[in-house]
Amino acid sequence: MTVLSEKTDVTGDDHVMARPGTPLVEVRDLAKTFDVSAPWLNRVVERKPRQFVHAVDGVSFTIERGRTLALVGESGCGKSTVARLLVGLYEPTRGEVRVDGEDIATTLKGPHALTLRRRMQMIFQDPYASLNPRWKVQDIVAEPLREHALVRDVGELKRRVGELLQSVGLSPADAEKFPHQFSGGQRQRISIARALATQPEFLVCDEPTSALDVSVQAQVLNIMKDLQRDRGLTYLFISHNLAVVRHVADQVGVMYLGRLVEQADKRALFATPRHPYTRMLLDAIPDIRMTGRSRTPVQGEVPNPLNPPSGCSFHPRCPHANARCGAERPALLELPGVGIRVACHAVEEGRI
Ligand SMILES: Nc1ncnc2c1ncn2[C@@H]1O[C@H](COP(=O)(O)OP(=O)(O)O)[C@@H](O)[C@H]1O
Ligand code: SF4
Ligand SMILES: [Mg+2]
Repeated sequence: MTVLSEKTDVTGDDHVMARPGTPLVEVRDLAKTFDVSAPWLNRVVERKPRQFVHAVDGVSFTIERGRTLALVGESGCGKSTVARLLVGLYEPTRGEVRVDGEDIATTLKGPHALTLRRRMQMIFQDPYASLNPRWKVQDIVAEPLREHALVRDVGELKRRVGELLQSVGLSPADAEKFPHQFSGGQRQRISIARALATQPEFLVCDEPTSALDVSVQAQVLNIMKDLQRDRGLTYLFISHNLAVVRHVADQVGVMYLGRLVEQADKRALFATPRHPYTRMLLDAIPDIRMTGRSRTPVQGEVPNPLNPPSGCSFHPRCPHANARCGAERPALLELPGVGIRVACHAVEEGRI
């Protein structure tokens, strides 16, 4: 028997039905193209064509409730674009994002937009840039509560902000301070407290610890894990660093030039990486245990996204590339029975 759990929201005037059995997040064939053409007059005078960047091109994945999918890949591969598409900051060029079975593009245009926004929040890389320096922490953390009209009076607002600060290991007294009075790690905790204010279920975290020292990164990651356990949060966690991902992910998706090239359970991905690009990223981590493979150091540069290579876009950097790789783009295929998806001709052909 399926039991529908009914979740009443904080104000009690609206409700959100969770649909058990469906993944919280489903992304299908998501694509975002940016027009980066020069202005019209320049194009005409200089005889330049229009130019497009396919920042995200045909990405599909699901995230189960209470789990973490980490997306990794070098700078420029489309991670932040995926993040923004997932919370509705960008409209997709193609494809769809479903949260709890609802197409967010449709919902965000309708009467339940605010309810949906409350359910998903984003944490950005740079807590220096994302916190208003002129505002006290009290006002920063309280802003979403005000925007969504989730509290009735000033006393309640103070109490809620105090609780939120405590939930990220800060003190209620910190509410009276300004962002510059905190360290980078503490500032990121303030961003997290703010993101939690609306009691979201889904958090999109775009390189949340990349601007922090290594020792501080671990503290913030631990807080995020505790919050996930206590509140059943679902995370999309974005990082360019596989070593960071190892601490937080359940599933890992590896992106290259706007596409997913491998997705697997974290353990499988670290134990037996299949895609040559995943192997290259793993080999760049100094303290990772090796499984008898010889190391391939990271080689070459990410190609220009305005002019991506033909076929498999990784082929100019790949030690296993052959003629087919330069001509034909590999599809993301599921390996039978192991829940791993890989886009590589050599894997499909059993060459590696
Ligand atoms: N608003 C935008 N306008 C034009 N190009 C963009 C925009 N945002 C991202 N891009 C381009 O899309 C690609 C992916 O960028 P991004 O999603 O920021 O990657 P990542 O977060 O992995 O570094 C890059 O080539 C970037 O230059
Ligand atoms: S498809 Fe070819 S070029 Fe691309 S990763 Fe696989 S072997 Fe390398
Ligand atoms: Mg980014």
